[in-house]
Amino acid sequence: MKIFIDSGNLKDIETLAAIGIIDGVTTNPSLLAKEAGDYKQILKKICDIVKGPVSGEVVSTDWAGMIREGHDIAKIDSHMIVKVPLTRDGVRACKALSGEGIKVNVTLVFSAVQALLAAKAGATFVSPFVGRLDDIGTSGMGLIREIVDIFDNYEFTTEILVASCRHPIHIVEAARMGADICTCPAAVIDQLFNHPLTTIGLEKFLKDWEKAYGAKV
Ligand code: E4P
Repeated sequence: MKIFIDSGNLKDIETLAAIGIIDGVTTNPSLLAKEAGDYKQILKKICDIVKGPVSGEVVSTDWAGMIREGHDIAKIDSHMIVKVPLTRDGVRACKALSGEGIKVNVTLVFSAVQALLAAKAGATFVSPFVGRLDDIGTSGMGLIREIVDIFDNYEFTTEILVASCRHPIHIVEAARMGADICTCPAAVIDQLFNHPLTTIGLEKFLKDWEKAYGAKV
């Protein structure tokens, strides 16, 4: 399963990318609005760092505007993915841009039928938001189960990009279901490394070594 960082912050992206387990990045207008500087330059720098798929979202709400913006976003770098919302205009723009060979991520997906529409429109990625569904008392991971089942019945090439991941259990469940990607904030990716027994075990190994051999090598 691929792991993307859900962030527009260059420092966070650089730090995690250096470890070697990051496959791509997703941004959205709210995330990029937090960062200082020109958003196109930020997206270009992110592409240079991760050298993998980087989603940049359109802010137009009409399909013609989305296509115009989509062309601009795609020109930033060959790794750019155009993110469009799951609206009628978004699905139409997805179909048109995908037909031109531009990769599209359909975002703000909250139901299995919305995911089906994105796949039918040729989306490269579909982004169901699990955390925001959990927030309103609906099972986010239940939606991923439905989408995995539906996509398994057909030959869609659309990858399931589990978005709005809030904690490591979302990632474990997504991986068990065979979802293609999880996109997570840097803080959630940091949590994936931690286990108290790893910390305690390492401390003991080093203490025992020091007792026998003195100073660290
Ligand atoms: C995905 O592409 C979105 O940027 C993101 O995962 C939204 O997450 P949030 O619900 O934590 O804002």
